[in-house]
Amino acid sequence: MENQEEWPELKAQIDKLRLPKHIAIIMDGNGRWAQQHGMARVFGHQSGVKSVREVTEAAAEIGIKFLTLYAFSTENWNRPDEEVTALMTLLVKTIQAELPTLNKNNIRLQSIGDLTTLPDATRLELFDAIDKTKENSRMTLILALSYSAKWEIVEAIKNISRKVTAGSLIIDDITDELVSSELATRDIPDPELLIRTGGETRISNFLLWQIAYAELSFSKIFWPDYRKKDLYESIIDFQQRQRRFGKTGEQVAEI
Ligand code: FPP
Repeated sequence: MENQEEWPELKAQIDKLRLPKHIAIIMDGNGRWAQQHGMARVFGHQSGVKSVREVTEAAAEIGIKFLTLYAFSTENWNRPDEEVTALMTLLVKTIQAELPTLNKNNIRLQSIGDLTTLPDATRLELFDAIDKTKENSRMTLILALSYSAKWEIVEAIKNISRKVTAGSLIIDDITDELVSSELATRDIPDPELLIRTGGETRISNFLLWQIAYAELSFSKIFWPDYRKKDLYESIIDFQQRQRRFGKTGEQVAEI
């Protein structure tokens, strides 16, 4: 990739034996980045594609197994029509353009969200790329599209209720694991690290169930400026934290 800095000294600080298996990213700040550059918001989204490419490549290179990117939320449908159309077109073009690179790098594409609401062209391109990358095994790149955690949890509750009504499930069978198995992420481990760029410190209806024990990392950098270096720094910081899962620091240190 042209003009891409590799930051070997930062990369070397990452402990390959303690990598998060799954990193999820809320890519925020495209609009404000465009405004700063005196351009239309859409220009920010277009420029954000380079960051998607860099971060995907960096994650695969260091050995991350799952990377989820929040590309379009259920609430994003409320944006002006021209921005929604531009984003959907950008998704089609990006998926088309990146398919050979995904295959070359052995990356499998998946998607979570209410995909029935996507325009036909976007959905067809997405499904085609998912199908053409389904045998790849180095890393899974998951695009959250027309996704919201509340939508996903409501769908899971409906499915579980249907099974109880049909008699194939009893209420006492409902466990943490059963709920997880009804979510869109059923075959994907929970993210250990959630990154949000763009300076806001909120979760915005993203993976609410799955991030119960995730470490949160907030970056002030607008998404189009986010580079490999920033991902490496966030992983190094993650590795310096002590994850206690409700235990005491002493109990965790003994393990
Ligand atoms: C949030 O910034 C970003 C989005 C809603 C879209 C992200 C999409 C891309 C980076 C393009 C393509 C992505 C893929 C995966 C192919 P914002 O518009 O909310 O920024 P603001 O908070 O500054 O207004």
